[in-house]
Amino acid sequence: AEPLEIVAAAQARLGAGPLAGKRVLVTSGPTHEPIDPVRYIANRSSGAQGTAIARALSGLGAEVVFVTGPADIPPPEGIEVVRVGSAREMLEATQAALPADAAIFAAAVADWRVKSASDRKLKKTKGGMPALEFEENPDILATVSGMESGRPALVVGFAAETDDVIDNATAKRQRKGCDWILANDVSPATGIMGGQENAVTLITADGAEEWPRMTKAQVADRLAQKIADALA
Ligand code: CTP
Repeated sequence: AEPLEIVAAAQARLGAGPLAGKRVLVTSGPTHEPIDPVRYIANRSSGAQGTAIARALSGLGAEVVFVTGPADIPPPEGIEVVRVGSAREMLEATQAALPADAAIFAAAVADWRVKSASDRKLKKTKGGMPALEFEENPDILATVSGMESGRPALVVGFAAETDDVIDNATAKRQRKGCDWILANDVSPATGIMGGQENAVTLITADGAEEWPRMTKAQVADRLAQKIADALA
């Protein structure tokens, strides 16, 4: 391990570091929305950014609760992990994990679910195609941002965009009522979704701060430090 990782692991174990005594919730990964017992709708999230954020927060001494959908990579060691499948399960687990001092919503939650998922495997019928009807999933970030009592002091979302990234993310921050939003361009050409790097712009009530392209671990470290400063 690198020296800084050793320091982080030691701090987390000793309850030291600038986030010692703070509880932080992180959502991460995709959600899976069932069609039937063997099929589901999902997205390309690997869980890499959320996992790195949880690790960085823990490294600064936070007590981290990590609510994760079915991700490609294992969760960090030494933190509380709650595994969920669908968006509705993620909302329930998130609410059960509160109160927290801060909440970071890195999950790529499916916006829609299949209205009446079948409890039996859908079979091919001659000449016919299944018609899937959708309904909207709850918005977990907006729900927590709008809590009248027990809202975390700092609520941070992500805005995954392919067009007009900053404008869309700025509007999304206001619409969802979160304090900060990290805008990222998830167009296929950026290689961000499913990749090791990220290029984000941090949008707060005070304006936008563009961060250079860096690894997801570096984005996580920088964000964790900002969170520590904000909660201090
Ligand atoms: N999010 C959430 N629950 C949802 C949808 C999104 O908590 N049902 C959170 C994500 O974790 C992220 C933020 O909201 O922090 C924005 O997600 P994004 O996919 O960019 O936005 P959408 O709400 O899906 O909006 P749109 O599809 O219009 O871009």
